[in-house]
Amino acid sequence: MAHQWRGVIREYADRLPVTEATKVITLGEGGTPLVHAQKLSELTGSEVYLKVEGMNPTGSFKDRGMTMAMTAAVEAGAKAVVCASTGNTSASAAAYATAAGLKCAVLVPEGKISMGKLSQAIAHGATLLQVDGNFDNCLDIARKLGESYPVFLVNSVNPARIQGQKTGAFEVVDSLGDAPDIHVLPVGNAGNISAYWKGYKEYAAPFETSNGTLPAVSTKTPTMWGFQAAGAAPFVAGHPITEPDTIATAIRIGNPASWDTAVAARDESGGLIEAVTDDEILDAHRWLSSKEGVFVEPGSAAGVAGLIKKHAAGQVPSGKTIVITVTGHGLKDPQWALRTEDGSDVQPVKVPNDVVTVAAELGLEEN
Ligand code: F0G
Repeated sequence: MAHQWRGVIREYADRLPVTEATKVITLGEGGTPLVHAQKLSELTGSEVYLKVEGMNPTGSFKDRGMTMAMTAAVEAGAKAVVCASTGNTSASAAAYATAAGLKCAVLVPEGKISMGKLSQAIAHGATLLQVDGNFDNCLDIARKLGESYPVFLVNSVNPARIQGQKTGAFEVVDSLGDAPDIHVLPVGNAGNISAYWKGYKEYAAPFETSNGTLPAVSTKTPTMWGFQAAGAAPFVAGHPITEPDTIATAIRIGNPASWDTAVAARDESGGLIEAVTDDEILDAHRWLSSKEGVFVEPGSAAGVAGLIKKHAAGQVPSGKTIVITVTGHGLKDPQWALRTEDGSDVQPVKVPNDVVTVAAELGLEEN
């Protein structure tokens, strides 16, 4: 009988801090496609795969962590949750809070989140406050609310989030049969690179559970390559950035919360965290939609932009297996697809209601 995917907690329960008695809050997240990227593979001479996280219930990887965070919130008896967000976390928190029957408040930087994400938080009934500040300021406030007021913080500073997000690495290994040689992903608040590294390490060693020891699943761990937007690249600068700036609003973050674990992921894996410009991000965004058939939001293309940049510098090995997490769906922020390479707006061609004119416009001649 066909297997019905049950969400990441039930699928990976023995590797997560839950028990049989846990009341799981899920929308069926995870189990996302690992798509072979034909053109990136041809370009690099390596087998390149895209972990398409836009296929999660709210359209981003955040759902993997949010199922755990919301489950923990319910377990803790919380009545309300709060998060700071560049948009995707707020969309996910709002949806999962609805599923859990909890109130949800989200703090977002004013004017700097995409319409798709804003509409998700509103649709799911969250109280949305636009803060006169950036994401880092929002996170400061959210943390203080979590500490001193009766609200449960569901940002990735909550370890439950990282636990859920590590399942992305499990799925990659389960699909490929082993860990890839290189894992590439965008870096913003740095929770995801930390979570993937945790997942890969756990799968490469025996794992202690309450029911005994699980054997290692993979024979190795990958090298982790993270990419930040050039105007919001604190890991490249080596210190927080007070005024982060990029068109990739999802990763417009200057003071990443998971700083130490991201640096550990980079260094323990022998990897790197580098920067890509907004133009490189938009080129990669266009590459994915026009050459691979995968539509992502700009921030999600930072990893692909990084791979293309490293390839141009002669620094991508051939004959390897490379996985790139593309973190959020293109429909989150569709306006970027409607721009031509010279920056002008795409103007759809208008035609009369007439087959002969339409055929002529398409360059078709009658049989
Ligand atoms: N890609 C997308 C689409 C994101 O929304 C984010 C983060 C990242 C990448 C970076 O992941 O923070 O784990 O390094 N978005 C957060 C939010 C900050 O509020 O939605 P990270």
